[in-house]
Amino acid sequence: KILILDFGSQYTQLIARRVREAHVYCELHPFDMAFEAIVAFAPSGIILSGGPKSVYEEGAPAVAEALFELGVPVLGICYGMQLMSRHFGGTVVPAGKREFGHAELLAQGEPGPLFDGFFQNGKSPVWMSHGDHVSLVPEGFEVVAGTDNAPVCAIQNQARRLYAVQFHPEVNHTPRGELLLDTFVRKICGCTGRWTPGQIIEDAVERIRTQVGSDRVILGLSGGVDSSVAAALIHRAIGDQLTCVFVDNGLLRLCEGDQVMATFAENMGVKVIRVDAEERFLSALAGVSDPEKKRKIIGGLFVDIFEEESNRLKDANYLAQGTIYPDVIESAGAKTGKAQNIKSHHNVGGLPDYMKLQLLEPLRELFKDEVRAIGEELGLPRPMVWRHPFPGPGLGVRILGEVKKEYCDILRQADAIYIEELYASGHYDKISQAFAVFLPVKSVGVMGDGRTYEYVVALRAVETKDFMTAGWYPMPYEDLARISSRIINEVKGINRVTYDISSKPPATIEWE
Ligand code: XMP
Repeated sequence: KILILDFGSQYTQLIARRVREAHVYCELHPFDMAFEAIVAFAPSGIILSGGPKSVYEEGAPAVAEALFELGVPVLGICYGMQLMSRHFGGTVVPAGKREFGHAELLAQGEPGPLFDGFFQNGKSPVWMSHGDHVSLVPEGFEVVAGTDNAPVCAIQNQARRLYAVQFHPEVNHTPRGELLLDTFVRKICGCTGRWTPGQIIEDAVERIRTQVGSDRVILGLSGGVDSSVAAALIHRAIGDQLTCVFVDNGLLRLCEGDQVMATFAENMGVKVIRVDAEERFLSALAGVSDPEKKRKIIGGLFVDIFEEESNRLKDANYLAQGTIYPDVIESAGAKTGKAQNIKSHHNVGGLPDYMKLQLLEPLRELFKDEVRAIGEELGLPRPMVWRHPFPGPGLGVRILGEVKKEYCDILRQADAIYIEELYASGHYDKISQAFAVFLPVKSVGVMGDGRTYEYVVALRAVETKDFMTAGWYPMPYEDLARISSRIINEVKGINRVTYDISSKPPATIEWE
């Protein structure tokens, strides 16, 4: 396994993903991880990430120096390269100008095994993002490659298996970067690619059994990818010791509740308690139009109901959650106070501390693509595994202002037609998230010979990698035309459809 030490680069998560894509297990930890903890982790190799600081600044982030004496291969990237260079007596200086973007790397001499296949005709396109560079190569190291701008861009000490690169092999803009990281973890560090979906499941099943023993586990099933995969995985491990609680809050998509029951209860034989709580949610939401208040009410009521159900299952002592690795990394980041609260986003699964249940989080180490891969391997239906994200408060934040049952029913129908058409036209998998929004305003229309005065639906579709920024999806006119006329013809109560052409920022993905 590989240890990645994070110096705060925006790309660090990508390093971890590339390593996992090479089917090698890795973990990401802050740069100041204690040396004893590093030794206990027993990595086969270490990667030092990039970061925004300068190594020569007062109080610059540093690693336990003994790390370089462990005898395991180390790859320094950007800041990691500068740190390694300085540690071994090299010099790092501010570059004349910040280098950001594409550059051509030129090999010098024999590149050696790490760079096997990385250069073609002595060149390789790379992505740079740095303000400092190495000016004096540390003793024992040889220069592998440079650019016109920075003559020292890749160095190595092959005898000690220490390597460092100034460019970013983890980003897609470095076309052969994936190969370089793959070579590092497999050939240089000798990791075998055993981190495959089948193996992940086997390991997880083993661990769940050991952790839970003969105890009982309760899980809040939402129908989303993460909780669904967690349920399937835990069920594979401990069968009937797992009970899922599925709260139908009346704010779900068309037939969603029935689909969840069909998949889990009927097909897989998972114990699922379906709580029909539409009435309770809608009456709690009556008269409330502020988005954050709605979120709090929906989240709070979910906790109340979940608690009532779990009190009924007196002997449950584990609470399972579909927490995934990016959630873990993000909440570690949130502790440093970087994140600003634009919307109170957290899934509605958070439970109060006094519920004295131990946590079971079998997906804690997995990225979304890995979760999806094991979901498919566990036999969950493809559409469920590849479904767009759906917010915890559901249609509650897709009906602007006050939520009413009438609005929910109209929106559900419009949304179902939209999504059905996106599947049929092949757009669904190219879009990161698509949904309809109910606007509680009426406009005038004409149908047949009569005047109509009805509500408006807005369609949203966005493309994004991280959901932090997003662009609107350029839907072809003919598809929009078909979707719009189907919605207006088939959904009673709608006489106008609009398409949202706002990017994030400044708009958010959801309308509330
Ligand atoms: P925004 O609207 O902030 O959304 O651009 C970014 C992503 O987060 C989802 N989202 C939520 N998810 N509870 C959730 O579980 C929420 O209250 C919530 N609000 C937004 C949104 O669907 C998108 O994927």
